[in-house]
Amino acid sequence: MNTPVAASRFDIRRAGINLNCWYVVARANEVTDKPLGVVLWHQEIVLYRDTQQQVHALEDRCPHRFVKLSRGAVVGDELECAYHGWRVGSEGQCTCVPYLEDTQKLPTGKIRSYPVQELNGFIWLYPGDRAVLQEKKIQPMGLPEWDHLNYIGSISVIDAEAHFSYLIENLMDMYHGHLHQNLQAWASAELDAIEETDYRVDAHYTAQSYYRIDKIWSISQLFVPALRRLHPEPLDVSYIYPNWASRLGDDFKIFCLFCPVSETHTRAYLVHFTSLNAFHRLHKLPVGFRRFVKNSLFGTANKLLDGLVAQDIPMIEDEQRAYLENPDRRPHELNRALVSVQRLIRVQAEM
Ligand code: FES
Ligand SMILES: [Fe+2]
Repeated sequence: MNTPVAASRFDIRRAGINLNCWYVVARANEVTDKPLGVVLWHQEIVLYRDTQQQVHALEDRCPHRFVKLSRGAVVGDELECAYHGWRVGSEGQCTCVPYLEDTQKLPTGKIRSYPVQELNGFIWLYPGDRAVLQEKKIQPMGLPEWDHLNYIGSISVIDAEAHFSYLIENLMDMYHGHLHQNLQAWASAELDAIEETDYRVDAHYTAQSYYRIDKIWSISQLFVPALRRLHPEPLDVSYIYPNWASRLGDDFKIFCLFCPVSETHTRAYLVHFTSLNAFHRLHKLPVGFRRFVKNSLFGTANKLLDGLVAQDIPMIEDEQRAYLENPDRRPHELNRALVSVQRLIRVQAEM
């Protein structure tokens, strides 16, 4: 899938992903004792929770006749196929065939199981080579703000009919504030510096922010535009392959957790955190109360996030369609951060 291609012929819009990374495939609360089918880069995967609340990930194919196990049910710690009721354990081994005759043995072939972990509100899955995982001790990016009492989270799901390169370019190109003018997310971005390695690209912009979260009531700026005042702030955006992280001043952090589905379909979770770091008196209150504040305010920025996503998706889907109509027609890109982004996609695809 990730066959190396000569640099001159490498087409970023058909680039594969580096499978030797952890990818977010679901929110933790989406995985229950009902099987959930997901797709990560052409691989159909079934997720479920066992009786100990442990999450497991298996190839979504019954070992019998390859129908989707996600159509079946969780029975105890195993998955039961909907068709003939075969059962599969968390390692992918067949554990029961209900009509097995005394003279017959259980089939020994296994379906694939994936390393998976629940971390900071999401399910992270590793679709690559297990030997590389162990040798390089590859870790998921994680999202420590998810559990930290000083951050209030909001989530929006992105489901776009476009290659992941269009989405990450959108997120790294802060000159598209024009599109979001009515949502007042940021304004007047200017690119100052770029740093890059084979694992990440950091683009440093300065911009005007509408928000200053320095009093508890200033959180209402998220939904009362009249309270907002433009002021300059650093705006840092990073492609930490395969995910994206950003920071607008000290008040906002936004992450995008990528689950590329195919060359023309990308799912992702956009996660926004409003910081309560400035409220020193709040930090002295009992942990239970602070958790209550955090939980009660969860989703405060949802309307803003959903609005941004609803404006961005048609743009990147247009780009994808234009590419499919005429792959040789080159866009006129002027933001040098995107050259670095494309380089990173290529380096990672060829790793
Ligand atoms: S196809 Fe799954 S039990 Fe037969
Ligand atoms: Fe945007």
